[in-house]
Parts: sequence; structure tokens; C-alpha cells
Amino acid sequence: MKVTSVGPYPPGRDPDAYERTRRRVLWSMPSGLYVLGSSFAGRRNLMTLNWATQVSSEPKLVAVSVEREALSNGLVREGHAFSLNIIARSDRTLVRKFVKPLDDDGAPGELGGFAVSTAATGAPLLECSLAWLDCQLREATDFVSHTLFVGEVVDCGPSELPEEVEVLRMEDTRMSYGG
Ligand SMILES: Cc1cc2nc3c(=O)[nH]c(=O)nc-3n(C[C@H](O)[C@H](O)[C@H](O)COP(=O)(O)O)c2cc1C
Repeated sequence: MKVTSVGPYPPGRDPDAYERTRRRVLWSMPSGLYVLGSSFAGRRNLMTLNWATQVSSEPKLVAVSVEREALSNGLVREGHAFSLNIIARSDRTLVRKFVKPLDDDGAPGELGGFAVSTAATGAPLLECSLAWLDCQLREATDFVSHTLFVGEVVDCGPSELPEEVEVLRMEDTRMSYGG
């Protein structure tokens, strides 16, 4: 089958106008807003992230996309794991705290002033999260700006999750990312 390569710009469209439209359409994609936990060689971090989704049911795989330059990128890659912390809508201001690397003085149970515990993989879990996934790294694919990490869910909690959970989504904030 002959495959014709198209893009990144559609023929006959003004590039500037097209870029604006493309950004707005990409921003309109609904997403959750999470805190990614990572750890390697005694250095831990928590990072705000919205590019996360389940990508396979057997095995249970979750994908996250992390900036190549982020501290968390190296920690996920070297630590072979990540946690995904699901945040309550009422805690929306929390995500502003995790947009630059946290100070990690190695104190157990605490990271950058936040109460944490340690998942089976070694990734930090935010104590105030509504729910969490602990993922063992299975695949890593580098793009120019980001790395797509695919992890298998190896643990999760809490064991008693309320029926009605108000989880934080990008639309609950005035923030946007990517596009
Ligand atoms: C609302 C919001 C969503 C974000 N989503 C992502 C994301 O999906 N992937 C990513 O790599 N960075 C994302 N970021 C940026 C990171 O939080 C930020 O670059 C962080 O400093 C990098 O993490 P580091 O502490 O590991 O260096 C987002 C930031 C905000 C404010």
C-alpha cells in the first residue's frame, strides 16, 4: 500500500492561523490533572502533569508524557517507575506547587513540605491524594520535547474508594498545557 506523508501543515492554510487553531483544538481535549511521583538513588520528585491515560487493559498499562528536560524524566527513566496521584477538585491550588523540582532533604515521610509515603516501586505517594497508581516502567519512547513512558499498574489505593469522587480536571483551573 502506498503511504502518502501529510503534514505537519495542511496545504493551502495560512501557517500562523493554522497554528492558533491547532493549539486551541489541542487545548480543548479534556484531561485530568495529576501529580507524578518519581525517585532514583535517593532523589525524589513530584510534578504536575495532565498528559496521562490508560492505554491497555491486559496488562493494565498507563502512559504519561514527561518533558525531556524535567528532573522527573531522568528519575522515571533511571528509577524504572512512577506513581500517579489523583487529586481532589477541592485541592486545585496544589498543582501550582509541583511545577519546579522540589527540595528533597531525604526526610522520610516528607517531600518539599508535603506528607508522602513510599510505593512498592520506590516512587513517592502524596498522602493528600484521593487515589494513586504505582507503575513499573515497561516502555520509554523519546520525542523531541517529551518522553512517553508506559508503566504497568503494580499497586493502587486506597482500598476503599468512595463512589462519588470529585477528581481534579484541567477544566477546573484556568491553566493550559502543551498545544
Ligand atoms: C497545568 C499543567 C500541566 C502540566 N502538564 C505537564 C505534562 O503533562 N507533562 C510534562 O512534562 N509537564 C507538564 N507540566 C509542566 C511541569 O509541571 C513542569 O515543567 C515541571 O517543572 C517539570 O518537572 P520537574 O520538577 O521534574 O523538572 C504541566 C504544568 C502545568 C502547570
